[in-house]
Parts: sequence; C-alpha cells; structure tokens
Amino acid sequence: MIFGENDYSNHLIVTNLQDKKINKIQSFNKEDWSSAYKNVEKELTKVPLTISKGENIKDLNGTLLRNGPGILERGGQWVHHPFDGDGMITSIKFENGQPFLTNRFVKTKGYLEEEKINKFIYRGVFGTQKNGGILKNALDLKFKNIANTHVVKLGNEVLALWEAAGPHALDPESLDTIGLTTLKGVLKPNEAFSAHPKIDLNSNASSELLVTFGVQTGPKSTIRLMEFNNAGENAGELLIDRKDTFNGFAFLHDFAITPNWAIFLQNAIDFNPLPFLMGQKGAAQCLKSNPNKKAKFFIIPRESGLFKGQPPLVIDAPEGFVFHHVNAYEKDSEIILDSIFYDDFPSVGPDENFRDIDFNKYPEGKLKRSTIDLKKKTSALETISKQCCEFAVVNPRNLGLTATFSWMASTSQKLGNGPLQAIKKINLISKEEIYWSAGPSGFVSEPIMIPSEISSKEDEGFLFILLWNGERRGSDLVILDAKDLKELAVYELPISIPHGLHGSWVN
Ligand code: CO
Repeated sequence: MIFGENDYSNHLIVTNLQDKKINKIQSFNKEDWSSAYKNVEKELTKVPLTISKGENIKDLNGTLLRNGPGILERGGQWVHHPFDGDGMITSIKFENGQPFLTNRFVKTKGYLEEEKINKFIYRGVFGTQKNGGILKNALDLKFKNIANTHVVKLGNEVLALWEAAGPHALDPESLDTIGLTTLKGVLKPNEAFSAHPKIDLNSNASSELLVTFGVQTGPKSTIRLMEFNNAGENAGELLIDRKDTFNGFAFLHDFAITPNWAIFLQNAIDFNPLPFLMGQKGAAQCLKSNPNKKAKFFIIPRESGLFKGQPPLVIDAPEGFVFHHVNAYEKDSEIILDSIFYDDFPSVGPDENFRDIDFNKYPEGKLKRSTIDLKKKTSALETISKQCCEFAVVNPRNLGLTATFSWMASTSQKLGNGPLQAIKKINLISKEEIYWSAGPSGFVSEPIMIPSEISSKEDEGFLFILLWNGERRGSDLVILDAKDLKELAVYELPISIPHGLHGSWVN
C-alpha cells in the first residue's frame, strides 16, 4: 500500500537519524513505473476532486498548472522518447481549499493534423521517426512545436512552452488553445522562447518580473534576454530586451538569475547534424559530449541591475552536463550557483525502448555548487549531495538570493540511478536532509513550493506533487508540509497523467 492506513510513518524518513532506513526501501517494479506512459484519454472541465487522505487545506486559493507529454502513441507507434509527446496541460484550481481539475491538450498545428489521422507525421527532436524507415525521414527537417515542457501565466494568458519554438497562448480558465503567440509583437513568429522563465521578486526593478530568454544557435549562439512586467495592469509588457552573441554551439535548457546577472552554462557538447539530416536520429540524439572542449559560463549583466550596458563575462565552467539549475546568489564578487550535474549527456539511443530502460546505464543527476569568481574569472565545483535527484527548487521568494533550503525529487536509494520516488528537503548549509517517500510503487514529479501566506519563514508553505501511483495505476495529487514533509492531503485524480515536466502556481 502506498497510502495504506498503517504505514503512514514509512513515508517520512529522517535520514540523519535513520540513515539506514532510506537504503532499505524496497527497489521498484519497472512495470509500476512504466505503466504511467500511456495516452491521456480524456479532457475534463472543472471536475471537483475528492480527498482520499488528510484534509483540504483551509483557505487555499490559487491554481496549480502542470505540463508534460499527453500523447505517447498513435496507431500503434510509440514516440521514441517521452519528451517527444504532445503537451497536455492540467490545471487544479483551489477555491477555499476545494480543488477542481481541468485538462486540455495544447491544440498545436501538429497535434491537430496528427489527431485527425491518428498517425505521427512529424519527426521528433528526441528520436521519434515517421513510419517508412530512413528514406522517409531523411532531409525532413520540419518539426512539430509540441508545447510540452512548462506552463506559466504572463499577463492575461497562460503560456504552454517548448524551447525550440514560440509559446502557445491558452485561455487561463478553460485552457482552450488560443494559438501561437508573438507576445504582442515581442517575438518573431515561432521564435525560440525558453521553457524556463523565472518569476523574479528580488530584482532592482520596482515590480515583479518574468525573466526569460531565447537562443539561436549554430557556429555562434545568440542569447536574447527578455524581462517582462509580471504584475498589475501592465503585466505582459516587455521592459528589457538585450542580445549577446557567443562563440560555439550552445545547448541551453535553463538559466539562473540574481538581481544583477543572468547566468547560463554552455555544456561541453557538440552537435553533429549528419545522422539527423540522413534520417537516422532525432536532433537531440546528435548531441554528444566533447571531452576536449571546456564548458563555459555565460554571465550576462541584467539591464535592470547595477552592471547594465556592460559586456557579458565568459568563464570556464566545471566538467559535467546540466539541464537544470536550482538557484544562484551574489556574494561579494562571486556568484554561487547550485545545479543538477550529470557526468555525461543522458540520451536514449536509437535502438533503446524508453519504457524499458536500464537505469544503471545512465548517469544520475547530483546536486552540486559552482562558485564563480567574477574578478579572477575562475570557477570551482563542490558536491552537495551524491544522491540522484532532479527538479530542485527553492522558496520562490528566495530566487536570486541566498536560500537555506531546497526541495527536490530524488531516488529512494542513496546511490546510483533510479526513478524518482522520494521528495527530499535539504538544508544547503548544514546538509541535513529529510525525505518523504512514495516507494515502492509510487513515482514523484517536480515539487512545486508555495510559500505560506501567513509566515515569512523560508521553509513554511506547501509542496504540490503529481504522483504516479503504480499500485492503482493512476495519478494522485499529494500536498506536503514544506517544513517537515508531512502528508497533508492526497487526491486521486480522474485522469492518468504520464510522468511529466514542469509546472507553476498562479495566485
Ligand atoms: Co526543464
């Protein structure tokens, strides 16, 4: 039983006290994990959720938005990688603590075309091929904007994001797709717009900002850094726009901000497009680590900060591959940056089946800290925790400033790779950790931290987690107390949602 009546205490494991207990957690059953990978079958509108454990959070108002792949198979053909699946948005709106669920596929051009004939007619970046073999795929460089990575609200619109192309605007209530948006002319049609915007409460500007970027890459890479007003009547208005060009190919999925800087890590990888052009591989499968190359930090002064107008800094970065950063802050002339580092770029090869992968063959993500000295132009790396983790966050009020705590999805076991089954809270200073585990048959996603409205203490608030409950083969929403990871409420959802990507909270 995951949420059995008698095993409640098993979910809360305080490592420092019971270090052996987390190691002893039974290993997972691969079918419990892979059973999450199936098409979302229906679209629902404002269905009230019934609580299966705990109690509604009194006075809670706001909306949890989540994005992730919702179509993984058409006409018997599977995507090669879940990241190639069409985006499906789930919104869970809380009205005085009572949640209501609405979900919609993002009705992209490609989704509508493929839905009509129930067949994949586009190649996927992560290796999904059209039927008909290499010849059918060679030289077909068209791609589908799958809008599956993140979902945020900007101005009056909800945006479904996918980094290689433009954002799709959705109606915030119904989630109906309005269409590709240029954000009132800010973007060229279908211009690349990152899937990792930061909501910045700590900038030198007077209001809340949404800071994000787009990258155009090739032999040189140009980063467009954009800062939008994110509050009041003028929410959605572009305030700041700057472009910087760097040498070399850059794969930039995420970035970090401090009040004065935007920090990018250019991984030491090369892109060899030939197998993609020849129809043998997806574009992302053509990325390969280059051990002879140095990773670089691109550190761009923010135009809302003290160093506006100055050129960016380029500083050698530590070895390893990063998708996601956790947080950054400034300390004298240093930037401290926490990120999830992999030893190498993890990619699902052309002959592998993503639903049956051997976790041991892939590098695991580890929480590490870079100290970047802006004066000496050097960086150093230290490991904060060796335990496999992903999707780490800090209290959104601390973004860009020092943070004592981080929450993340982690494996149940302490070492090696595996599926994400636990939520971990770590004190970044003392390294003390506590866990909540959904194991052996539950699988977690990115925790979304919502700070307490009545307390300014950094670790007071809620964590919202969409969980794949392998035992009942369905999705649950779990709300934990951010401070002690106690389970406060569990709701069984009326739809099954595959392991997903990112989400946000809208007040
Ligand atoms: Co991401």
